[in-house]
Amino acid sequence: MKLYNPTSSTSPVTSSVTFAGLIEKIEILRSTLRWSSRLERPEIEKLLKQATTLRDEVMGLSHKERFVAAASATGEAEVAEVEPVEMSSRERRQALMERSFIFEGTFGDNPKLLEALEIAEKASPTDLPVLIDGESGTGKELMAKVIHANGSRTDKPFISVNCGAIPDSLLESELFGHKKGAFTGAANDRRGKFESAHTGTIFLDEIGELPLTGQVKLLRVLEAHEIQRVGSDEVIAVDTRIVAATNKDLRKMSEEGTFREDLFYRLSVIHVTLPALRERRDEIPLLVSYFGDEAAGMLKRRPIKLTPRLRDFLLHYGYPGNIRELRNLMYRLSCLAGDTADFVHLPQDIRPKPAGLQAATGGTALPGKAIVTDIGTAPSLSEAKRAASDEAERAFLERGLQEVGGTVAELARRFDMNRSHVQMLLKKHGIHSKDFRNNSRQVEGK
Ligand SMILES: Nc1ncnc2c1ncn2[C@@H]1O[C@H](COP(=O)(O)OP(=O)(O)OP(=O)(O)O)[C@@H](O)[C@H]1O
Ligand SMILES: [Mg+2]
Repeated sequence: MKLYNPTSSTSPVTSSVTFAGLIEKIEILRSTLRWSSRLERPEIEKLLKQATTLRDEVMGLSHKERFVAAASATGEAEVAEVEPVEMSSRERRQALMERSFIFEGTFGDNPKLLEALEIAEKASPTDLPVLIDGESGTGKELMAKVIHANGSRTDKPFISVNCGAIPDSLLESELFGHKKGAFTGAANDRRGKFESAHTGTIFLDEIGELPLTGQVKLLRVLEAHEIQRVGSDEVIAVDTRIVAATNKDLRKMSEEGTFREDLFYRLSVIHVTLPALRERRDEIPLLVSYFGDEAAGMLKRRPIKLTPRLRDFLLHYGYPGNIRELRNLMYRLSCLAGDTADFVHLPQDIRPKPAGLQAATGGTALPGKAIVTDIGTAPSLSEAKRAASDEAERAFLERGLQEVGGTVAELARRFDMNRSHVQMLLKKHGIHSKDFRNNSRQVEGK
């Protein structure tokens, strides 16, 4: 009888052993057993030996190797399907927590944000310079604090310097300090930010605003780890970890000659990019409720409710100011609204246009490049008509309430309507007349 004849039955487990190869060997072995009518003792012995070898080979492959090998044997299309090592965002965040990562209040599960946090985790214990870029309000300063908090300098100073806010003439003194009498107004010796950040971290915010003269001096600190106070010959060694941030494209600036290329490379040994909020829209609902609760706690009030249309607006708005803008909006709404916030509590420059215009455009063109299409997306003509009519009714009531300073009786008089009918309409739209009493003028900026 023909028996399975393994080529590697006596050889030790090697890296050439593949999962697919082993499966094949097992299948041959099984088929040998299935088709044999009768086995003699030596054959049984031989098969047992082969089975043992196979088991050892299987055990010799790590769990991961088995998947990688199986996936590559079955083609690229299946690689995506059998990627068990790929963790979900939630698992990645959980894994960071289990490794005692300090988030410093950084919120969110977006893959791009998690990637930034994972880079921060690896960079933190080193003293390598980190460059953080991202649009305004994406959390660059928060990320710098995360890096500081997760490193060995955590109980040492974290000194923040806004390079864009220091006049050119004071820059050197601000960063490196000065000696008494170094210039007019230098009444005393003064240490600069680098000395203050000694043994800790210096956060150079808006580094793209640093003038070229300042860039040369910063480069010297990065190279020699020493500074000189303005007007002094004494060289002072500084041990400071540098984290810089910018919302500019430094690479482009260095190509254009407005930022030193050598400084760019020195600063960006580790480069972290933070995603804009519009690239992580899935997190807006969570952030709205998170900052709503935070604002309520700070303002010592109950968390505000949102009318459906305001919620819809907040979910679709473009947020050019990113998380900072969303946070500020929630604080503003929590401060201005009574129980329930609505369009009227939004800053005027981002407030959607009145209903008439919405109907004309099939949706509301919102500043920040978002579109609300409650009418435009209505499933039928009658639904669209009802939505448009509701919007018009609501806008009419709100405008009226604003004009009469929130007095329902006065509104009813103006509209020549029964007061209880007006009240019923206000209730239908979730409009609270008291919201228009104290704040209406202020909100309108009148
Ligand atoms: N992922 C996040 N989770 C929670 N809060 C965040 C997050 N990112 C930013 N914030 C909050 O948003 C606000 C703005 O963040 P930060 O000041 O770090 O932004 P920035 O990128 O430095 O902005 P700018 O470029 O305007 O200086 C802060 O209140 C910060 O706490
Ligand atoms: Mg900042």
